Amino acid sequence: MSRLREADFGTPARPSERQVALTIDGRRILATEGTSVMRAAAEAGLAIPKLCATDSLEPFGSCRLCLVEIDGRRGTPASCTTPVVDGMTVRTQSDRLARLRKGVMELYISDHPLDCLTCPANGDCELQDMAGVVGLREVRYGFGGANHLDAEKDQSNPYFTFDPSKCIVCSRCVRACAETQGTFALTIDGRGFASKVATGAGATFMESECVSCGACVQACPTATLMEKSVISLGQPEHSVVTTCAYCGVGCSFKAEMQGDRVVRMVPLKDGGANEGHSCVKGRFAWGYATHKERMTKPMIRDHITDPWREVGWDEAIAYSARMFLDIQKRYGRGAIGGITSSRCTNEEVYAVQKMIRAAFGNNNVDTCARVCHSPTGYGLKQTFGTSAGTQDFRSVAKADVILLIGANPTDGHPVFASRLKKRLRQGAKLLVVDPRRIDLVKSPHVSAAAHLPLRPGTNVAMINALAHVAVTEGLIDRAFVTQRCEPADFARWERFIAEPRHSPEAIEAITGVPAADVRLAARLFAEAPNGAIYYGLGVTEHSQGSTMVMAMANLAMATGNIGREGVGINPLRGQNNVQGSCDMGSFPHEFPGYRHVSDDAVRQSFESAWGLGLDAEPGLRIPNMFDAAIEGSFKGLFIQGEDIAQSDPNTHHVSAALEALEFIVVQDLFLNETASFAHVFLPGTSFLEKDGTFTNAERRINRVRPVMAAISGKQEWQVAADLATAMGYPMGWESGAAIMDEIARVTPTFQGVSFAKLDRLGSVQWPCNEAAPDGTPIMHRDGFVRGKGRFMITEFVPTEERTSRFFPLILTTGRILSQYNVGAQTRRTDNVQWHPEDLLEIHPHDAEERGIETGDSVALASRVGATTLRALISERMPQGVVYTTFHHPMTGANVVTTEYSDWATNCPEYKVTAVQVTRSNHPSDWQRQRQATDNARRRVLPADDAAAQ
Ligand code: SF4
Ligand code: SF4
Ligand code: SF4
Ligand code: FES
Repeated sequence: MSRLREADFGTPARPSERQVALTIDGRRILATEGTSVMRAAAEAGLAIPKLCATDSLEPFGSCRLCLVEIDGRRGTPASCTTPVVDGMTVRTQSDRLARLRKGVMELYISDHPLDCLTCPANGDCELQDMAGVVGLREVRYGFGGANHLDAEKDQSNPYFTFDPSKCIVCSRCVRACAETQGTFALTIDGRGFASKVATGAGATFMESECVSCGACVQACPTATLMEKSVISLGQPEHSVVTTCAYCGVGCSFKAEMQGDRVVRMVPLKDGGANEGHSCVKGRFAWGYATHKERMTKPMIRDHITDPWREVGWDEAIAYSARMFLDIQKRYGRGAIGGITSSRCTNEEVYAVQKMIRAAFGNNNVDTCARVCHSPTGYGLKQTFGTSAGTQDFRSVAKADVILLIGANPTDGHPVFASRLKKRLRQGAKLLVVDPRRIDLVKSPHVSAAAHLPLRPGTNVAMINALAHVAVTEGLIDRAFVTQRCEPADFARWERFIAEPRHSPEAIEAITGVPAADVRLAARLFAEAPNGAIYYGLGVTEHSQGSTMVMAMANLAMATGNIGREGVGINPLRGQNNVQGSCDMGSFPHEFPGYRHVSDDAVRQSFESAWGLGLDAEPGLRIPNMFDAAIEGSFKGLFIQGEDIAQSDPNTHHVSAALEALEFIVVQDLFLNETASFAHVFLPGTSFLEKDGTFTNAERRINRVRPVMAAISGKQEWQVAADLATAMGYPMGWESGAAIMDEIARVTPTFQGVSFAKLDRLGSVQWPCNEAAPDGTPIMHRDGFVRGKGRFMITEFVPTEERTSRFFPLILTTGRILSQYNVGAQTRRTDNVQWHPEDLLEIHPHDAEERGIETGDSVALASRVGATTLRALISERMPQGVVYTTFHHPMTGANVVTTEYSDWATNCPEYKVTAVQVTRSNHPSDWQRQRQATDNARRRVLPADDAAAQ
């Protein structure tokens, strides 16, 4: 349990080497140069009254409550806007100051509703607190004058209200939206008494540019901006620090609670990844955890056409163990396997992979990272020696030029996007490589220095051209390369990349991007003091995903942009624990810590730790499991928290594989699409019930603390342990902490990690061991993990997926801010108000050619399947490319995507599918069939009937 309120020092810290000595209220105080008098006093435990100041925002100096007296200065300066000076003598309390402060408060209170007792902020209102602090006992002006008490409430946002009658026009919300979030949705309209907070063009919050991040709500010192959950439930009474379960940013939150009920989620100021900020998903979209559709009891059935029958845990575990063992007896040890989930904790993933390797007796374990960031693991391991991004998020504040490739952070990684936008407002330059004109190309106060809208599938040609310019124009960092990289590999690469066929002019016909723009971008990046590369699934989900990761690593090494703040190769990971699930040994060829199963020394260390012999042969990857299922040699599958029937490419093929399996166990929160093919359903735990850790995109290991008991009665790692035990390999731990202790014992990069350390430090970034006891924010500082950096040859090979007369457009896919992945969580929250269905974005010219208007129902067909959805004409799209999201099962975007995949890792090529789009008013065959089978396969027998059977 942690403190409900975090300390507020009034103004932000000013990191500086220099200390300043001053006297405040007779006390001699040391403060960092540049610090405000208000903060210096607060750090020394002296609170100066304040209203417009808060330490997440730059000081504004509007309320005049924080006045102080300073020797040698006239008047009463505002302490929030006055920096400390050596030898300064400050008084924070005097009769004059008390009079002035009371006067300020009287003015505020005379125009404020006197409904404190029934106000939702009662007990958590800074105005109320300050009235008490200044000793306000009367309001000389009375309450009958002109006021704003009748101002109309805006309740349009599903999660918070805006009640202008309570507004003190302190501008904290406006500044939070600008400084913290970077959206600039709010402004102060009018002057003097008429001034008021407004959204652009007088729209409601829902109609405005607002993205519901909640920063303004958090900043508001009154009940003006207030969470609806607090209005309906009342004030929380304790809080628990935990981690968001959505994206790979890994924001830390205080779950503010009444008993075991969440009242609100408040981003933690000390959160290493988010530093007090959040997006709409983490802050508001947690209601799914107690949604009525949550499955809370184990269920079994003999055939997938039977209704589900609720059973106890013992029966479900015994039945699953019996079925898996029986399959192994009939078809061999390798006929079963499992898939771990990047939504689960490190401890849960570790338990499942151990269950598979030790109790199943094979290495048939894979993870959903296969379909997103497996090329990151491969590419960075080849070039740098370890499968992870190089920086912490804080590093972006030191970048001068940021090369953003195949990522859309304002939708996919919103809190990182806010940090990035802040840096851009400070003058850093942005280069966007993306077919689509994403928000960051041009949004308030942000304008990319270059947008390279390349054809989907031509990333490698583009990055080679950027490197070509650096090499041929003498922009290589020779000192870095000589000192830090393998010389022979570099020389080979330099000759390769300097070939004229890689020049921007030569690849213009391939990428469709003018050569001059490519040259400009290459020079900007290569000449930057600090050049940083950030990328997403637009890099990895291609047939050349691994090549592209290596090519980016080449460019970073060649320009000396590795090993310090402000540079690096930064994968923006999709799911909350993609990094962790890979770290924990989820790939069929690697034990925890990315060590090959065929390495005798490594394998023997696990054999001795786990007390049994282990298979030296790598197991099946997910696509191999599907193929083997259809071919008949693979028969049983355990699926932890992943909806492969919706998320994996070529739905027809996945469905055929799942139908071919004899036995499937699904562990999840809801009866998802994959559960339609399952024989056992084991209820999972939401992040509010989990006791473990997530590892975010910066390798930051964050605690996930339970705020309520597991609704199903079991932690997920307990289920894996019970199943392993029932299959003959006794496995079990007393707690999540004990699992982490075991992980630390068997994984060198985690050797120094423990729950106790995480409790003490908040979070740590691996490697965390004897050499780095408090973790490693920036990797490869003095040398690469593999010793010398290795340049790889990155030949551009076009994908086999080609457009044709019948399929003339390219479909590419992505996410939207309010929804998350297959939508299992966000569709069960009010976030559906922003995105109730997936839409097909299409360029106006392509739409016109086909007679398509926004809102029309259109058929989207590829060589492997077809679906129907509604169209949105969008200037963001280049001609010839269409785009959709995959958040809603009935859209079935993956019915259309193909099985082409990355040559090294089998990561599917979601981002390039040749398609045709036509007007159509009826659902596709697949949609009709799904509708017909869906309800039948989700039937659950009432408990009485189940007992009678
Ligand atoms: S919720 Fe976020 S985006 Fe919306 S107005 Fe507030 S700060 Fe701005
Ligand atoms: S809404 Fe809240 S934060 Fe914004 S100006 Fe009014 S009182 Fe200040
Ligand atoms: S979804 Fe991502 S950015 Fe949003 S709060 Fe959660 S971790 Fe942070
Ligand atoms: S807190 Fe300093 S002027 Fe408002």
